[in-house]
Amino acid sequence: MGYHANDRASPGSGSTFSAIGFQDRRRTTYLRVRLAYGGAAPCTREPAQAVAPPATLVSFGVDVRPLFREKDRNRMLFRFDLFSYDEVKLNARDILDAVSSGRMPCDGPWRTEKIVTFRRWVDDGFMA
Ligand code: HEM
Repeated sequence: MGYHANDRASPGSGSTFSAIGFQDRRRTTYLRVRLAYGGAAPCTREPAQAVAPPATLVSFGVDVRPLFREKDRNRMLFRFDLFSYDEVKLNARDILDAVSSGRMPCDGPWRTEKIVTFRRWVDDGFMA
């Protein structure tokens, strides 16, 4: 009866320790850790997570208003003014539904980035 579960597998294919010696593996890991720490003494802790910079807030004037074309504004004036902060804020839920479902603009749906920007503006609290 074989000692290793892998005994009947094709030779050399799956053994954990055959391709590279266990000691060599440890050495490789040690060197990787040293590299990750820029050569400083290795430490057993995981490397610190990179701290994400604070996400910049999305504002109507800078980010949202430019999402709309003159054409969008003109065609939608019967219902709201897409260049007006107050009106876009008031209708934000409907506008988000329209663009994220692809219903609007009817001559070509928004790219995901635009939808994400608009959604973030809503989530961030409608900065002017
Ligand atoms: C509550 C959200 C919205 C509703 C209910 C709505 C509804 C409508 C309706 C009923 C029309 C006229 C009929 C049609 O052409 O399908 C229209 C046209 C249009 N809408 Fe909207 N819309 C909304 C949001 C938007 C937004 C956010 C945009 C732009 C980002 C937009 C862009 C357009 C354009 C460009 C047209 C004219 C299409 C063309 O004639 O080529 N709409 N919309």
